[in-house]
Order: sequence, then structure tokens, then C-alpha cells
Amino acid sequence: MSLVPMRTLLDHAAENDYGLAAFNVNNMEQIQAIMAAAEETGSPVIIQASRGARQYTNDAYLRHLMLAAAELHPKIPIAMHLDHGNSAETCFSAIEQGFTSVMMDGSLEVDGKSPASFEYNVEVTRQVVAAAHAKGVTVEGELGCLGGIEDGHGAGMSQDEAMKHLTDPAQAEEFVAKTGVDALAVAIGTSHGAYKFTKKPTGDVLVMSVIEDIHRRLPNTHMVMHGSSSVPQELLAIIREYGGEMKETYGVPVEEIQRGIKNGVRKVNVDTDNRLAITGAIRKVFATKKGEFDPRKYLGPARDAMQRVCVARMTAFGQAGYAGKIKPATCKEMVAFYGT
Ligand code: G3H
Ligand code: 13P
Ligand code: ZN
Repeated sequence: MSLVPMRTLLDHAAENDYGLAAFNVNNMEQIQAIMAAAEETGSPVIIQASRGARQYTNDAYLRHLMLAAAELHPKIPIAMHLDHGNSAETCFSAIEQGFTSVMMDGSLEVDGKSPASFEYNVEVTRQVVAAAHAKGVTVEGELGCLGGIEDGHGAGMSQDEAMKHLTDPAQAEEFVAKTGVDALAVAIGTSHGAYKFTKKPTGDVLVMSVIEDIHRRLPNTHMVMHGSSSVPQELLAIIREYGGEMKETYGVPVEEIQRGIKNGVRKVNVDTDNRLAITGAIRKVFATKKGEFDPRKYLGPARDAMQRVCVARMTAFGQAGYAGKIKPATCKEMVAFYGT
């Protein structure tokens, strides 16, 4: 099966009340881990690459790795998504490279850090929707800004500052109507990276009620939760045990994500949890087998550790078992769908 437009997966998830994990990748082992988890659980797949990932891999390597995944796993529908496109040009170049879905993150300026105006966001997202839909490619937009000062991701705002940039549900209605996006990323108090919350989050910092409000207003809009790693304490413990330094931190509890899925969340972005799993596994090999220098001996366990995280998320989000039940539309069919 060739790579499929993400919209077809999101629609199926909405019809059957489940969510889809969207995992970030930067190399072959991460793609293999996701595909092994998809085979193990029978899950449809969203694989996403950031601008940084595209630079790190080079688009050509990434494209061929993704095509290899599709060739080797013909029964698993796979969408290839651009994460946090910072400009229309970035989205267009991704479409040229074979991405079947793009995120135009117009919540931030082109620098990927400064909060942008609503008018700019609408205009740039609308342009990307017009061009992408003409090719059957899915578009995710974002309204509101995530935090994430520690690791330089997102708006570079502190948690307190980010709380002033939560998605406004009334504005979300206007944004979706004016842009025609297929999916809407919402800001509810999460941030990218490992350092999200200083204690297990409660409703004042992880504002799930925003999602419930948007779902009431826009029951047919697919919502996306960014910064949704759960930052499992056991993964932090492995990193610390084998010499790493991780401060006390808490992520987004899986039960809260499940609550989001009951209220219209269809795509759940997870990168950090896989980074933690990979790092812990590599540290363990380095600490316990000091003479080891064959990369396969540490990248293999790292891949296995990421597979375990992906299996857990695919199962918890409810996508397990659906791979064979979806009849994905092609991009060509989606062109006709958008045209009607
Ligand atoms: O947007 C956040 C993702 O975790 C991607 O991170 O920009 O370091 O590739 P990155
Ligand atoms: P995490 O850093 O919580 O994994 O979030 C990833 C993300 O939102 C990518 O867009
Ligand atoms: Zn994100």
C-alpha cells in the first residue's frame, strides 16, 4: 500500500471513537520500531518528521525509508506527516517530497518561536490548505501556543506564559471555518520535551476542559494534542540508574489523553517518551558492557525499547486492531473529496 493521506485515518478514528499516536522519527531504527509495534498490535500508523528531522536525515533518505516501511508492511496504512511546518514553503517542499499530510503551524511566526497574530495564522493556513487539498494532502493547523522554554521547542515560553496562550474555543470555530483545515492542534497547557509539569498535572495546568468545549462547538473537527508524552517515571529511573541526569518531571497522564480521545482528539503527538526509552536503553548497554563498540548492540535494544513504548501508546489510544479494517482513500481520491 502506498503512503495514505492522514485525513482518511482521522476520519476512521472518529467514526470508531479512537485516537492515533503520531510518533516523530529521525532515523531508520525509529521507523522500524513504529512499524514493528504496528504489526504487533495491528495498528494504522502516523509517522511524522519535524523540520529538524528533515535536515538531520535529508529528505531523500527519509522518503526512501518511509517507502521501505510501506513496501515491507503492505497491510498497514501509513500516513507521512510534516510536524510543525513554519511556513507555506516548508509545507510545499514536504508535499513535493511525498509527505501525505502537513502541519502548517501558523500559531507562530516563521521563526517558530514568536506568537503570530490570528489574521496571519488564518491567511497562511488557508493558503496551505488550498495548495495541499489540490493534491489530496491533509492539513493540520494550530491555534494557541504551546510552552517549552527548557528545550527550545514551541513558543519558547514558560509554563506560566503559555497558560495565557491556550486555544480560545470561540476563535477555534472561526479558524476552522475560515481555513478549512482537516485537523486542529490545540493548546491546553502542555509543552514539548521532558519538562512539562513539576507535579502530576491537575485541571488548572492541563486544561482538558478546553478540548471538551471545542468538541461541543466543533463535533466534526479532528483535534490534535501536542506535547503529549507521558514521561513515564520508570523510563526516567533507567536513565538515572545508568548515569544520566534527569530532573524531577511529570508528563501528560495517559488517562487524560484517553479523556481527550472521548472528546474529539484523534491525533496524539509523542516524541519525548521514545527519546527517553532509546536513551535509557543505550545508557544501559554503555554502562553494563563497557567493551561493546558494535552499534547494533546498542541501537538494537534502543529500537526494542521504543517499540515497547509505541505498543503501549497504540493500545491505550485504541488504534490497535484497526489496520486491516480501514480502506484508505488515495491522495487522488481525496482531491475529488475536497473538490465536492
Ligand atoms: O515538535 C517537537 C518534536 O518533538 C520534534 O522535535 O524539532 O527536535 O525534531 P525536533
Ligand atoms: P512530546 O515532546 O511531548 O513528545 O511532544 C511531541 C510533539 O508534540 C511533536 O509535535
Ligand atoms: Zn508539537
